[in-house]
Amino acid sequence: MADLILGLETSCDETAAAVISSDGEVQSNVISSQAELHARYGGVVPEVASRRHLELVEPVVAEALSQAGVGLSEIEMVAVTQGPGLVGALLVGLSYAKGLCWATGTRLVPVDHLDGHVASLFLGPEQVEPPFLCLLASGGHTLLGLVPERGTFEFIGGTLDDAAGEAFDKGARLLGLGYPGGPALDRLAQGGNASARAFPVARVDGLDFSFSGVKTALLYAVRELGEEQLDSARADLAASYQHAIVSALLQRVEQAVDQTGMETVAVVGGVAANSALRAGLEHLGARTAPLSLCTDNGAMIASAARYAPNVARAGYLAVDAYPSR
Ligand code: KG4
Ligand code: ZN
Repeated sequence: MADLILGLETSCDETAAAVISSDGEVQSNVISSQAELHARYGGVVPEVASRRHLELVEPVVAEALSQAGVGLSEIEMVAVTQGPGLVGALLVGLSYAKGLCWATGTRLVPVDHLDGHVASLFLGPEQVEPPFLCLLASGGHTLLGLVPERGTFEFIGGTLDDAAGEAFDKGARLLGLGYPGGPALDRLAQGGNASARAFPVARVDGLDFSFSGVKTALLYAVRELGEEQLDSARADLAASYQHAIVSALLQRVEQAVDQTGMETVAVVGGVAANSALRAGLEHLGARTAPLSLCTDNGAMIASAARYAPNVARAGYLAVDAYPSR
């Protein structure tokens, strides 16, 4: 078997670990979501997330190794998310990974979370080969870039305010859908009429995005309706709001294809799990990772480690987490 890589991801509210082989085959991919724990607060509470990672990291890694049918001694490389993310949460994964490397003499490879999302495309039997145009849409980021080769990302556009996932989450909250909002809004929208309301899609220059306006428009729509009417309008609002966000993403992707002449388009990050976006992308012939690899996971981190810069063995204990890029 090709060399095995253990990937560890704890940047937000998923404690995740995976084993992949160096040719990109996923041997195991274990994700323990803390969503229920944070639901009562309406969003991720950083300190609560860190404490939960501390409890979960060991059993999640053990489960990933067990599902892959391997022991720690067979792992060639430990990959871990270094940033961006919640710094306390990141430190749990990073410290745990350092401990593993200290105990076993395995090499530590710190990985950027965003490179991880892009590297989700280099897993499994249908890997996307560069060069391609890549949209990364997650809870914290919305970026357009060119990927001329594996391990690179040349930025060509991004959001000026909220990330697309953040817009989904905040919209869901306004509609009383709780946390995590994106998937709940997606489900509700499936029973609604996307043309019931025309939410504005902000026009900004170049290949950038802006999602704060559409969120404000939803806020006003919700206020205008009041509690009673909101109940019957909720699904239509969700579908129309989702349509506005998805159209903005698709328009930019099409524009970027025109400008760059790129023939292959790929979309990564949690928002790539959105059903309306996936339908629109299919129409464009764009590629997406399987659903289990779109939202945060350890396999994408292990995948990115194959293209990450080397850290000298002697220096790995000094590697620190970073909250933003
Ligand atoms: O990539 P990810 O798991 O974590 C970050 O790196 O942020 O992305 C999480 C984001 C959240 O904002 C979540 O609401 C959104 O992705 N998301 C979705 C869907 N599934 C996850 N948004 C819309 N529709 C979905 N089905
Ligand atoms: Zn992510």
